[in-house]
Amino acid sequence: MSACPAPQPALVIQSERPEDGPQIDALIRRAFGPGHHAKASERVREFAAFAPELSFCAWSEGALVGVVRQWRVRVGETPLVFLGPLAVDPETRSAGVGGLLVARACEAAEQAGEAGVLLVGDAAYFQRFGFSAAAARAVRMPGPVDQGRVLVRAFRDLGEGLSGAVRAL
Ligand SMILES: CC(C)(COP(=O)(O)OP(=O)(O)OC[C@H]1O[C@@H](n2cnc3c(N)ncnc32)[C@H](O)[C@@H]1OP(=O)(O)O)[C@@H](O)C(=O)NCCC(=O)NCCS
Repeated sequence: MSACPAPQPALVIQSERPEDGPQIDALIRRAFGPGHHAKASERVREFAAFAPELSFCAWSEGALVGVVRQWRVRVGETPLVFLGPLAVDPETRSAGVGGLLVARACEAAEQAGEAGVLLVGDAAYFQRFGFSAAAARAVRMPGPVDQGRVLVRAFRDLGEGLSGAVRAL
């Protein structure tokens, strides 16, 4: 696991609760900005099984400043976790909140016995957490996507590697 910058003093990371939904939706809109549609990831989330126990919120003095959600899918025959969205409040960026959320999400997935975590995102950001496009080159997303943004972090040897369509568990 990679080193994270020091968090804000009052930062609390806890599992997502049902009542957090409206604040999470508002934060995601704020973080991604208007007109953003993560189409490839949205297609996955249409059929993926939401995993609240693998999804986390970052709170600072009662305010939601970050969120990461995870879902269960299958790639070919391999059950896997799908990460996204990851969003941090624009006013709280570069303080390590995103890194802490990714680390916590991956730790929870690994502890749950999952084989790995898949996402669509910038390799320049996610490679520091062990994600790689090479390991995901045979993963087929539903709908068009830049394959260089399809990234995976495996927690164990996946044999021949990950291969096949992302589909419902
Ligand atoms: C990406 C995001 C979650 C990072 O949150 P954060 O709390 O600022 O992350 P961290 O503090 O752990 O890391 C910040 C560092 O990553 C860098 N970084 C952020 N986004 C990056 C990207 N897309 N590519 C490369 N580097 C990136 C920042 O420049 C910063 O570098 P610095 O420490 O040298 O200043 C946040 O910028 C965000 O919510 N962006 C909009 C939504 C989004 O793109 N989500 C990810 C795709 S699902």
